[in-house]
Amino acid sequence: MTMTAPPISVRSGVPAEASARLVEWVDRIATLTLPDDVVWCTGSAAERDGLFRLMVEQGTLIRVNPELRPYSFLARSHPADVARVEDRTFICSADEADAGPTNNWQAPEAMRTTLNSLFAGAMRGRTMYVIPFSMGPLGSPLARLGVQLTDSPYVVASMGIMTRMGTEALRLITDQTEWVEAVHSVGAPLGDHEEDVPWPCNDLKYISHFPETREIWSFGSAYGGNALLAKKSFALRIASVMARDEGWLAEHMLILKVTNPRGRAFHVAAAFPSACGKTNLAMLTPTIPGWTVETIGDDIAWLAPGDDGRLRAINPEAGFFGVAPGTGRSTNATAIDTIWGNTIFTNVALRDDGDVWWEGLTDTAPAHLIDWEGRDWTPAAGRPAAHPNSRFTVAADQCPSISDDWNDPRGVVIDAIIFGGRRATNVPLVVEARDWEHGVFMGATISSEQTAAAEGIVGTLRRDPFAMLPFCGYNMADYWSHWLTMGQRLRATSTVPRIFQVNWFRKAADGSYLWPGFGDNSRVLEWILDRVDGRLAAVDSPVGLVPMPGSLNLTGLEMSDSTLQQLFAVDADSWSAEADATEEFFNEFGDRLPAALTQQLTTLRERLHNV
Ligand code: OXD
Ligand code: MN
Repeated sequence: MTMTAPPISVRSGVPAEASARLVEWVDRIATLTLPDDVVWCTGSAAERDGLFRLMVEQGTLIRVNPELRPYSFLARSHPADVARVEDRTFICSADEADAGPTNNWQAPEAMRTTLNSLFAGAMRGRTMYVIPFSMGPLGSPLARLGVQLTDSPYVVASMGIMTRMGTEALRLITDQTEWVEAVHSVGAPLGDHEEDVPWPCNDLKYISHFPETREIWSFGSAYGGNALLAKKSFALRIASVMARDEGWLAEHMLILKVTNPRGRAFHVAAAFPSACGKTNLAMLTPTIPGWTVETIGDDIAWLAPGDDGRLRAINPEAGFFGVAPGTGRSTNATAIDTIWGNTIFTNVALRDDGDVWWEGLTDTAPAHLIDWEGRDWTPAAGRPAAHPNSRFTVAADQCPSISDDWNDPRGVVIDAIIFGGRRATNVPLVVEARDWEHGVFMGATISSEQTAAAEGIVGTLRRDPFAMLPFCGYNMADYWSHWLTMGQRLRATSTVPRIFQVNWFRKAADGSYLWPGFGDNSRVLEWILDRVDGRLAAVDSPVGLVPMPGSLNLTGLEMSDSTLQQLFAVDADSWSAEADATEEFFNEFGDRLPAALTQQLTTLRERLHNV
């Protein structure tokens, strides 16, 4: 493709606040991608409204009935662009060993050559938007800055919800500050007079990260984590590398504030793999009297030692990109109250009255719908009306359970960390780690049944250490070492948060869930926080500390002794098989594996042996 001079509008409309380095970079990318126009986003309500009108006109968005759900829109993606594409996600560190065995690595120079040719002219016929944003409260010492360039108005509108985006962030982006460069194109240039499609994208997709230079380049997809680059690409993959270098943690964790009946407030950070109920837990309505739960974040936490040495956390995001199916008044009433309006829905079904619907929103499906692909649907269709990975995108401050301190620039002090996964067998309902090192072992050995959040076979058991398998921007064994070092550092100056493992998804032999989950997970939070509060003793088991008989609050639940016993059963043979699988997994990391984890595995085997 021959390259022509940059379009004339590149330098027009540059805001006075834009730094020289930023303008030079925007020029450089525009010269490569050749958009028809460049628009600097301010984050204003008028700008947002203009984008929504444009997308309705172009057919990208359908306006949801405003009388039922004001200012809300439905997007239907291309059927081949519906989830994160992990096999097309690359970590391009200079040294392959720094990416480690769990990442797809490509040599930076080779990837740059590929990207340069893919991005050349990729935005022809489209507008390139410049999106300055802050991850975390503006000006917080824990926040970090970034700029995304994109040719997708859907991405701009979504970034406007998911980040603190616009002029205020732009003011903070100076030639002296560090900020992350993120370039995104749907990879569908338009020829002269060529008509656009509602959801432009490309069969070829590249989600590439350059950890050393803190750069992200994403091509071919407009969907979720592939395209909203502040989220998984920046706030986890690139931020995990920044965190390693600067002494903090970037984690796939929700953050909760929980207040007990005595009025003591705790903050909890919890890591679960994608689509394993983080949003539900973050918005939980307790079924036990006297406890309240408030929301700080539902997907990502940045944690750093504060001035007092204690671990503090912020939610770097400003919105929720929640999985719709399974979200209903009986499972997550708070989410339903959050999405009353001002929400972008993607790949859900449309009701005849112009409102949205998905499996699990109501107990009974409407008699007729238009499904996520725009086809007529009835309950007899034999296929879901909403895509299993369909989503709602909504501002966090619209959530009725949002905590007053969700925007606190100092972050909140974390009292407990929870690791969870979706396991039909083996893993008890709740276990406390004996110490930080044991907790790191618990996090490192999480496996979970695959969900629809990423492409792949749903239900297959896969290792997902710290729920970070697809999101850690460097060698996972080095990441474990970093966690171990952080524990030593916290212990040296203050206290470390206590660590727990939970599993809401254990099943009986007949395939039914043993634990009711949802609001009743407050019972497990009660046990965890009473442990933190020093109010409860626990019993040692080969896999960690479990509740003393009678200490888990089951009042009001009809749970038989046999069910309870199955929820906590630790079968020595199955756990020996887990230990063998863990050893095999650990071996993939060779001599980068921290000795403390090998030691933990040995201890687990010894304890199993003594059962
Ligand atoms: C998400 C994910 O969208 O983890 O949060 O896939
Ligand atoms: Mn997630």
